[in-house]
Amino acid sequence: MEGSAKRSAAQALSGGPEAAGGGGNASASDNDGEGDSKRACTDLRSRVANTRSEPGNIKKIDQAWKEVFGHLKLEDVSLVSEIGKTRPRNHVNPLASQFLSPVEPPKWAEIFEDTSKPLFIDVGCAQGRFGLLMATNEKWKDWNHLGIEIRAPHVTRANAWAERKGLKNVHYVSCSANSSLGPIISSYPGTVEWVAVQFPDPHFKRKHHKRRVVQPAFLEDLARHSQKGCKLFMQSDIEEVVAQMRDRTDGCSFFDRVGTYTPRDEALDPEICRNGADDSLWTKSGQRAEGKAIDFGDWLEGPNPVGVPTEREVQNQALDLPVYRCLFERNDRDVPPPSLNTTVSGPKPHPEA
Ligand SMILES: C[S@@+](CC[C@H](N)C(=O)[O-])C[C@H]1O[C@@H](n2cnc3c(N)ncnc32)[C@H](O)[C@@H]1O
Repeated sequence: MEGSAKRSAAQALSGGPEAAGGGGNASASDNDGEGDSKRACTDLRSRVANTRSEPGNIKKIDQAWKEVFGHLKLEDVSLVSEIGKTRPRNHVNPLASQFLSPVEPPKWAEIFEDTSKPLFIDVGCAQGRFGLLMATNEKWKDWNHLGIEIRAPHVTRANAWAERKGLKNVHYVSCSANSSLGPIISSYPGTVEWVAVQFPDPHFKRKHHKRRVVQPAFLEDLARHSQKGCKLFMQSDIEEVVAQMRDRTDGCSFFDRVGTYTPRDEALDPEICRNGADDSLWTKSGQRAEGKAIDFGDWLEGPNPVGVPTEREVQNQALDLPVYRCLFERNDRDVPPPSLNTTVSGPKPHPEA
């Protein structure tokens, strides 16, 4: 495919090259120097933040939020006297020592009415509205839904919301998915059939890329504990972030692609994405760097296969911003046992138990 055709395929998918928060106009450096890398991160991060905080955009987001989540009537569920105000920190470091040990898996029979139902796990579920929508959605209401979120105050409130709404098929756990996903999956009495990583924290700075949730060890752990056919769905508005998740998953051999994808630029070496290349692909003027890929391509075509938007996705839809997606399925390749140096210490009591 010619360059211009590739470009237009990417633009059609992304909502246009000027859309902030995606890949098209991110301003970044064309070398890996620490100073340029920092500047590139700041540029991209503030572009994403500024787009959302423009007055007209706040209004649009507000409106969309009401349209999608309004019917849940969460503002009628007053929890402040019970659980206090929910003011979690903006960011939590998943590599902090308290998150490195797995939490005790939930007592499934106490949280779900029917533990034989297939389980959908949403990794990094934030405030949990997505889970509430899923639990009541026509297509997904006969599944169980588990949100995993590292920021405990969100989990406390989301569980209280679910309880007040009388929902017996949705629950939230406070932990790092990196240490706890495996034990959670293997302890579930039914089958875990979907795992979603949606709009994960981008950790823009190169030195913080190791905090990103989809690491090779995360994929191996997921593959080790999940059954053949389990779907792995990933999406983000930050193209570089989801390109890294996609190419790492392609590279780990335990998952196969599902669906139809836009063409990928042959010049884009998978190693570039796998290593996290949010600055090296860009020039300071926001163009793709000389000799680098014209576009990443290789994105799942069509609408979101889940059909239910997350909190972040609603904001994106309201502003007509791009979203990049990929879908995988666990194949039957065996996963080697974990190496000794990736072993984490034994479970500690679950904070929500
Ligand atoms: C940008 S938010 C996206 C939330 C939601 N998925 C959405 O699409 O609206 C990413 C969330 O992942 C959580 N998170 C980050 N690292 C995590 C980890 N290792 N385990 C569990 N949650 C994590 C963050 O606290 C944050 O709430």
